[in-house]
Amino acid sequence: MPMKLLAGILLIAILSAAADAICRRGCNTALASYYLWQDSNLTFVSGVTQTPISSIVAYTRTISNPDSVQAGQRVNVPFTCDCIGGEFLGHVFNFATFPGVTYLTIAQTYYANLTTVESLQRDNTYPPENIPDTGVTVNVTVNCSCGDENVSKEYGLFLTWPVREEDTLESVAAANNLTADIVSRYNPSADSIFTAGSGLLYIPGKDQSGNFPPLNSSKSGLSSGAIAGIAIAVVVGALVVAGCVYVWLRRKKNMERIKLLSASEGTEATTFKAQDSGSTRAGASPALGISVQKSVEFSYEELASTTDNFSLANKIGEGGFGAVYYAELRGEKAAIKKMDMQATNEFLAELKVLTNVHHLNLVRLIGYCTEGSLFLVYEYIENGNLSQHLRGSGREPLPWSTRIQIALDSARGLEYIHEHTVPVYIHRDIKPANILIDKNSHAKVADFGLAKLTEVGSNSLPTGRLVGTFGYMPPEYAQYGDVSPKVDVYAFGVVIYELISAKEAIVKQNGNAADSRGLVALFEDVLSQPDPTEDLKKLIDPRLGDNYPLDSVLKVAQLARACTHENPQLRPSMRSIVVALMTLSSSTDNWDVGNFYGNQNLLNLMSGR
Ligand SMILES: Nc1ncnc2c1ncn2[C@@H]1O[C@H](COP(=O)(O)OP(=O)(O)OP(=O)(O)O)[C@@H](O)[C@H]1O
Ligand SMILES: *[C@@H]1O[C@H](CO)[C@@H](O)[C@H](O)[C@H]1NC(C)=O
Ligand SMILES: *[C@@H]1O[C@H](CO)[C@@H](O)[C@H](O)[C@H]1NC(C)=O
Ligand SMILES: *[C@@H]1O[C@H](CO)[C@@H](O)[C@H](O)[C@H]1NC(C)=O
Ligand SMILES: [Mg+2]
Repeated sequence: MPMKLLAGILLIAILSAAADAICRRGCNTALASYYLWQDSNLTFVSGVTQTPISSIVAYTRTISNPDSVQAGQRVNVPFTCDCIGGEFLGHVFNFATFPGVTYLTIAQTYYANLTTVESLQRDNTYPPENIPDTGVTVNVTVNCSCGDENVSKEYGLFLTWPVREEDTLESVAAANNLTADIVSRYNPSADSIFTAGSGLLYIPGKDQSGNFPPLNSSKSGLSSGAIAGIAIAVVVGALVVAGCVYVWLRRKKNMERIKLLSASEGTEATTFKAQDSGSTRAGASPALGISVQKSVEFSYEELASTTDNFSLANKIGEGGFGAVYYAELRGEKAAIKKMDMQATNEFLAELKVLTNVHHLNLVRLIGYCTEGSLFLVYEYIENGNLSQHLRGSGREPLPWSTRIQIALDSARGLEYIHEHTVPVYIHRDIKPANILIDKNSHAKVADFGLAKLTEVGSNSLPTGRLVGTFGYMPPEYAQYGDVSPKVDVYAFGVVIYELISAKEAIVKQNGNAADSRGLVALFEDVLSQPDPTEDLKKLIDPRLGDNYPLDSVLKVAQLARACTHENPQLRPSMRSIVVALMTLSSSTDNWDVGNFYGNQNLLNLMSGR
């Protein structure tokens, strides 16, 4: 086994290299000098770097008023400088993608040239022309320095400074109260960087009190024996890579053979048919999209080839049932869920029914495949899941009216499966990760019908998976396994609390998991007070600022309270929830809730306990 041998040698080489590597440790703080481009501001920089504005202000002594920080100036973003792989000093930021991003805009705009396209391509596997635009994060490595005792022990904090065209050695030195000499001694290649008008400099920086902190005695510089170890690692690494490439080439050849085979076999049995009158019940979608005429069975080869053999680059998420991959299938964007289980005959019958359930607020099941594992092919929803919108970085906060809209959309989807499908379904896994947001900020419920897997195929289910997610299960279900549509109503109530607060269903207190509390209990404490308004305000998502009508939030909170009632029979049905939210959403525009109180049924609903 030559591969095993090579791997063994590589391991030894890496171990010996690590024992005497180029860097041994990083340092607590380095500063990224971020040049504010047009339309960027502190809020933006804070979001992209996941660093509080207050920390940026503390290290940028030129800021007198954080609200008036303007484009064209630099701010200092503190971050920890790590020794990455024993090879260099840097920090890996995570950037949540959105439609339209490219490696170029990430490097040159969003990270203000603190990183490069080459570096992004090295650290990520997404193809440059096709970065998935939702649900993935891009690793962004920003290099840093912890100092160099061979240059000076007077400086122990360093800025990573992307040079701009207008910078000169003198201007950069002057801007940082340093001499040109000291800047060039820390940057042996400064000349070529200034000539190119781009590249990174490491500049001594000041701490929060405005002083240059001295170098800590602990060293992180080069050590002599390191080179030998690294050299061995590199040579052996190259051999292993060559081996891998060989294996990969052989696989690829095989794949091509399979592709040819399946192409010659023809695929008429499973063709899409375009329909102009979509079968969506609500019918509001103008999309003349491709819709499935009959249930579609895909071949494994087709799914494998369109996902690059289920490569990591195409993976967009992972949940309790399996991993999800992005694919372009016969010209349609699709999400393929790969589950490590075999479908029973009953479940296959069930799947055929599911492919015929169409509603504007339900993620459509396009088809499936049962070769090897069980694969479900869904329509791809462009804009990520609700959890990412509420808590992900790099996204605009959802306005209050959009949150009501999302609640209403999801309620409609649930009402449909509770009351209008044959057979009717109980979702059992309602949570923000299963509510997807489309291009127009409308919500669609994902994964309905999957709970059926437990009923018809319980012996093929991965052991110990309780259908549902903690924090969203009502007491009667968690304790006795009692299932009714009211299980979904309870979970939906938790989702509403999340829309209000942007907190997770289980709230960690003091950052301590053992100290966690359910969101339901947190709201219950507040809403059971005679006048909850003051304490309710403290629970509202701070990213909303003051941009919400308090009455509307209070009513929605009371609706959620009714949904999460301990007694399932006292929870409203999805149908009355839809009605309540419709009334609220129509009154959200002018904040006039007078007509809301006019409706006796709703009034009863709201004061239901
Ligand atoms: N049709 C889809 N279009 C776009 N993204 C999707 C689609 N389906 C799933 N995803 C993404 O993949 C992620 C993982 O989905 P998956 O359903 O496997 O796990 P989950 O929703 O987190 O948990 P659960 O297994 O309980 O449903 C989702 O959170 C979502 O971001
Ligand atoms: C900050 O920038 C973001 C995005 O560039 C913008 O939406 C927001 O309005 C800006 N905020 C302020 C206070 O200027
Ligand atoms: C990054 O570099 C490019 C090319 O030199 C330049 O056009 C762009 O303005 C730079 N971005 C910032 C924020 O400095
Ligand atoms: C960061 O350092 C690594 C290792 O020295 C180097 O390969 C990479 O090009 C550097 N990145 C940038 C943006 O200069
Ligand atoms: Mg899901």
